[in-house]
Amino acid sequence: MNLQDKVIAITGAGQGLGRAMAVFLASRGARIAVIDINDEHMAETLGQIEAAGSSGKSYRCNVASESEVETTFKAIADDFGALNGLVNNAGILRDGLMVKVKDGEVSKMSLSHWQSVIDVNLTGVFLCGREAAIQMINTQSEGCIVNISSISRTGNMGQSNYSAAKAGVASLAVVWAKELARYKIRANAIAPGFIATEMTAGMKPEALDHISKMIPAGRMGQPDEIAHAVAFLMENDYMSGRVVEVDGGLRL
Ligand SMILES: NC(=O)c1ccc[n+]([C@@H]2O[C@H](COP(=O)([O-])OP(=O)(O)OC[C@H]3O[C@@H](n4cnc5c(N)ncnc54)[C@H](O)[C@@H]3O)[C@@H](O)[C@H]2O)c1
Repeated sequence: MNLQDKVIAITGAGQGLGRAMAVFLASRGARIAVIDINDEHMAETLGQIEAAGSSGKSYRCNVASESEVETTFKAIADDFGALNGLVNNAGILRDGLMVKVKDGEVSKMSLSHWQSVIDVNLTGVFLCGREAAIQMINTQSEGCIVNISSISRTGNMGQSNYSAAKAGVASLAVVWAKELARYKIRANAIAPGFIATEMTAGMKPEALDHISKMIPAGRMGQPDEIAHAVAFLMENDYMSGRVVEVDGGLRL
């Protein structure tokens, strides 16, 4: 798919990886529907899209809300007249051990920490994927969906909620590749390793230092390196149903 003038929706595009993807795809001529819950951050992303020589529009939407997602994707199709791509990128962390014993006291991951990550990182991906596919079909647009999974999908300590959601979205990409091919829609996932964004900046410095030493590439990844992989998946018409690992060689 040639990205020139194509319409690509990106969730969580207010900062971090989503913003980098928006600017990278805009520099290849794509028009961007910026989806996030932070208006100020979306305005900054739109400014960078315009500086990259393209245009876009922002949509305030909580990806975990069915009604907001339905309204948003209908509005995108009405505003642009097409929808060619979706990057399911919005995500949150609520890390913690499932069960922890300290000084004889047992603590546990709360149901609300479990549920909030599942709501945004898994249900949000399902809802946006479903509504994007409907609008791609309605507008007869050639389409490609990219779910952002994680190296944690194989099971990372302290991330019961996050690992389960990220394994789920990798699997959804395979299901959708099979179900949606008849409508000329492809689906893939990307599993990033540790990338320098606001999300990883929130981790403990000693943990980041420890992880960086384990990465064969010898450093954390840069947001543009994930954006580049998104562009590749969007552009290559024979890529479907696969999970692309972009992690500098790290295995958890
Ligand atoms: N940074 C990494 O090392 C890394 C590694 C693997 C996977 N990932 C995944 O990549 C994606 C982006 O990560 P990031 O590092 O850019 O994170 P980030 O925290 O910097 O940005 C996440 C964005 O998502 C938005 N968002 C959060 N909840 C939302 C909701 N309910 N609805 C709509 N938008 C919402 C936030 O406002 C923010 O703009 C996430 O899915 C994350 O799990 C990141």
